[in-house]
Amino acid sequence: MRRRRKIGALATLAALCLLSSCGQLEPEPPLDEEGEPIPMPDPHEEWLYFEEFAPEDEISIRPTIAITFNTYVNPSTFTSYAAARLTSRDIRNSGRVDYRMTRKQVLFRPNASLEPDLSYVLEWRANDVESVTGSPLHPFALLPRYTTNDELEMSPPLDRPNVQWEEVEELFDRHCNDCHGDSSWQLPELTRDGLVGTRSQQVESMLVEPFHPARSYLMHKILPDYPIRRFTEQPPPWSDAEPLSIEEIERIEHWIAAGAPR
Ligand code: HEC
Repeated sequence: MRRRRKIGALATLAALCLLSSCGQLEPEPPLDEEGEPIPMPDPHEEWLYFEEFAPEDEISIRPTIAITFNTYVNPSTFTSYAAARLTSRDIRNSGRVDYRMTRKQVLFRPNASLEPDLSYVLEWRANDVESVTGSPLHPFALLPRYTTNDELEMSPPLDRPNVQWEEVEELFDRHCNDCHGDSSWQLPELTRDGLVGTRSQQVESMLVEPFHPARSYLMHKILPDYPIRRFTEQPPPWSDAEPLSIEEIERIEHWIAAGAPR
């Protein structure tokens, strides 16, 4: 009796399915200009997209434009010299970009000065850029249009501050060494040589890879919302150690980008 009721229920479900044509609930994938399907991220993954541009509408004739993404990008999915350019009809100004991981930002500065009082469009040319979890760039991401104003100050080159070891050592002493400086914890020592020469005990990466903050596991552990790491962010939220500020995290990034000097 009970069995028959179950079969009945299944039949009703199948009929409902037919009526609402179950098979087509999945939406058609979006197509690109050539009619090819655009790659979609896994349903549980986010798209990569541009969250913010600074400045927003007026730029100097030698601007630096900060493009902020919604998440961390994988810098090996674009080249620094071909990722972006500013275009005004047939005038094209390419330049260099620099990935500032802590801010989820790519800074772009054209190689040569722009023309005053012209309208420029920012073009993002590295369409294969991916997030660190492999999400592709949203195909309909909007890019800003600018007007140049030669009364605005020209921006300096994209150099980073040259952060020395003492300036990061001071942070580790203040926020980390209560635990990492105590050998009974058996944690990696946060010394310059300890960080640069040591493979993580948790993943297959070096704690610090000089010149490459994005590949350094230390960064993955101290950025609270970094999506890939084992165990918790550092300092651990279960401890009463004072968290690092975003400026302090960025100081550590600059030190690694400077080659992790002694
Ligand atoms: C309350 C003690 C404590 C404090 C403070 C602390 N850590 Fe840790 N740290 C740990 C423990 C425990 C682990 C291992 C478990 C984990 O990763 O969450 C660890 C793991 C790490 C790892 C991963 C090591 C590896 O082999 O992969 C790094 C890197 C790290 N900490 C850096 C820091 C930094 C930088 C700070 C300061 C900003 C800090 N920690 C503050 C206890 C601490």
